[in-house]
Formats: sequence, C-alpha cells, structure tokens
Amino acid sequence: MKQLFKGGIVVTGKGTKRCDVLVDGEKIAAVARKITDSEAQVVDCSGKLLLPGFIDGHTHFDLDVAGTVTADDFVSGSRSALRGGTTTVVDFACPHKGQTLLDGLDIWRQKARDCRCDYGFHMTIDDWNDTIARQLDDMYAAGISSFKLYMTYPAMMLPDETLYRILCKVREKGGICIVHCENHPLIDLLTREAKAAGAGGNVSFHSRTRPDLLEAEAVSRLLRMAQLARTPVVIAHLTCRAALREVEAARKRGQTVWVETCPQYLLLDRSGYESDDWDHAASLVCSPPLRTPADQEALWTALRRGEIQTVATDHCSFTPEQKAMGRGDFTAIPGGLPGVETRFSLLYTYGVTTRKISLATACRVLSENPARLYGLFPRKGIIQPGSDADIVVFDPQGSGTIHAADLASRASYTPYEGFHTQGAIRQVWLRGQLVVDQGMELEHGGGQYIPRGKCSL
Ligand code: URP
Ligand code: ZN
Ligand code: ZN
Repeated sequence: MKQLFKGGIVVTGKGTKRCDVLVDGEKIAAVARKITDSEAQVVDCSGKLLLPGFIDGHTHFDLDVAGTVTADDFVSGSRSALRGGTTTVVDFACPHKGQTLLDGLDIWRQKARDCRCDYGFHMTIDDWNDTIARQLDDMYAAGISSFKLYMTYPAMMLPDETLYRILCKVREKGGICIVHCENHPLIDLLTREAKAAGAGGNVSFHSRTRPDLLEAEAVSRLLRMAQLARTPVVIAHLTCRAALREVEAARKRGQTVWVETCPQYLLLDRSGYESDDWDHAASLVCSPPLRTPADQEALWTALRRGEIQTVATDHCSFTPEQKAMGRGDFTAIPGGLPGVETRFSLLYTYGVTTRKISLATACRVLSENPARLYGLFPRKGIIQPGSDADIVVFDPQGSGTIHAADLASRASYTPYEGFHTQGAIRQVWLRGQLVVDQGMELEHGGGQYIPRGKCSL
C-alpha cells in the first residue's frame, strides 16, 4: 500500500519546505518537490503542515507509586499520545527496590503489550550491586540505552556515591543517564518543619518545601559528579532559571549537558498552589513543582536559544479522587500531571504563534532531538526517505479549546482546561497506517517496541 501526501509543507528541525511525500508500506519512500505515482492513494495536504510524529521521551504509564497506580495505563496513555500527534513514547521502566533491571524490563514489557503507539523504555536504576551492574549489558542488548536516576523520593533515590558509580559505569558502556535533580535531605527538613507547624493541609507547602534553589543545588552537584565521571547527562524536567544557570556554568567548563523541560513549566505557575480550592491546588502537584512567571520566561528564552533540547510531558496522571488521598497531608498527594495529548497544541499555540520559538525549534524539541538523544534517529524524528512513516498532518487554520472531556486520558481533568489552541491535528499516521483521523482513533495494528541505539545529539 502506497500513500502520496501531496501539496503539504514538510517541517524539519532545520525549517520548512513545500514537498510531496511518498510512503510505501511502513516507510517513507521519497520526499521531493513534485512526486507522481499512479499506484499511490493521494492524501491532499494543501494548506497543511507535515511534521514527523512526535516523540515523548518522558512518560509514566501504569506506574505504581505513592500507594496507588497512575490513572493511565499503556492503552489509555498511548491513545492519548496518538491523538496529540505523539507516535512514540519512551516510558520509564521501574523495578522495585530489591528487583533487578531484567525484572523491571519483564514487568514493563507485560504492561506495554497493548500499547497503541510505538514505544521504548528507559530503565530506572534505584539500587546498585554486581547483578545490576552486569545487567547493563542485557539492557543494551534489549535496546535500552538510557537510565533514570533519582536524587529525591525515598523509594528510588540514590546517595551521591552510588550516583557517581553509575555515571562512571554507564559512560563506559556508552549510555546516558537522565536525572531527577532535587536536594532530598533539605526538602525533607523543610517538610518536617512545615508539618510540625500545622501546614499539612496546605498544598502551597508542596512548592514552598521544594524551592528552586534546591533543584539548582542538585543540578549543580550532579553536574560536578558528571564532570568527575567525564560523562554527559540529561537533566529531567528542568523548571527554573537558577537550574539553567548551573547548566550554563557546566557547559562553559566544556561539559555536555542536555536539558528537558515540560509544558507545565512553560505555561503554568505556582500561584495555582495558593488556590482556595484544595482540589484545584492538588491537581497541580508535581515534582519539581511549578515555578514563577519569571522562570517560565527563562525557559522560553532557553528553548529559543537551543539551550533546552527537548520538551517532554512527564505524563504521570492521577484522578482527582487519587489526588484527594493527600487531603490533610500535602506529601501524600500523588505527584504528577497528565499532558501527553496536549503537548504539541500547547507548544504551537503558546510558543510558535506567539513567536517565542520557531516551528523548526518546535519540531526539534518534540521530535528530532528526542530521536537523536534516545537513539531512535533517523528511524524516527524526521520525514526523509528510509524513516518510519510517522506523520502528523496539521492544519494551522484550525482552532479549539482544551477540555478534559475531549481527551483520552483517564485522569478526567487537565491542567489546561479552557486553554485556547490554534491549529488542529487532522491526521496522525504511524508507520504508514492512518491511526487518528479528525481526532478519532481508528482501528489499527497497534504500536511496536522500538529497540534504541546510542545517542546521536
Ligand atoms: O511529579 C512527578 N513529576 N511525578 C512523576 C515522577 C517524576 O518525578 O518524574
Ligand atoms: Zn522526575
Ligand atoms: Zn517523570
């Protein structure tokens, strides 16, 4: 089966070009100014942008955490992803403490077996011993080349000595570490003080006990450890100007540092935690927390300058009922926000149309860069001959408003309720199959596990 996408504007990380795109089976066969092929079914793309399927390098589907399980599993999460133009997710496989990496991989393979979009896994390392060290080779053999490390969360965090050992070992093997940076001991102290003062029921203390400086401190410490270990690192979900300064300093020393941020840190601020409506404030709890409008501006500027390489979602969804587990104790509110379906619409509307970033930058941070960073390029992340035919047909003339009721996520709320969106995703193609048409997911063969190679960013 062949398709000929005619008359559209192809977007890459370098810019835009009016081109036809020929798809043969699962792959892109040709990209050229004018293509004719009498056997191909024509998809009229006049007035439309053709973008490479987006890659979300940071999702948590079917994660058991904080005594509950995320509202979205791989089915609802990936449905939501596809409707938002995301054709590949890289989810965080997460063994429990005491389990091995191979245990974690088995569990995540099972969880993801009905995933509707293509997918890969990062592997969380929350423990370190000889077995785990040996199993790094098994991870590479299974197509896992990136590892998540936590500097906070008692169930998963690692002491500096272990972080350093892992950075060294992963460098030896040619992989990369993605690190959640917050200074846990001081967050713990501030939290105990807040609770002792009777602030347990006040959600604003979630953000007050996790200030930007404690994120920046952890970023700085991690980057010094990475310098000693002579290894590049990815800073997960960076939120603030103070942390950006630490990255800038490390880059000036000659270090390679890649930075991920998320739509919530670009578009939402901490004032929501002060709301009199407890449920609304709790619905915004994530870690690191939302910051200030000045931090948002710093992130937009860094995106524009290419100092932030990816915008992922950290989709980690809980329903309002699950969030209510923390009524009376803000530390018991499950942390995380839904967002896998709204990422491109938000970035396009509030970044591209406002000229904070160019369309090419949006394409880079949503598609090409995550593909390069996580070893998926050029199979994913670009519309060029030989690549998977993952294509988003986007109509810049459309418009809409975000409502939770219209989204596929089981979170049943969105932090972006009522946000206006410019443009509309008309079609999403996954490896040559039309999977979403006018917002509706069609019957299709489902997603595939995509083994990943080494970073090429
Ligand atoms: O609050 C958040 N972000 N939860 C998801 C886990 C993480 O820290 O990435
Ligand atoms: Zn994190
Ligand atoms: Zn996360």
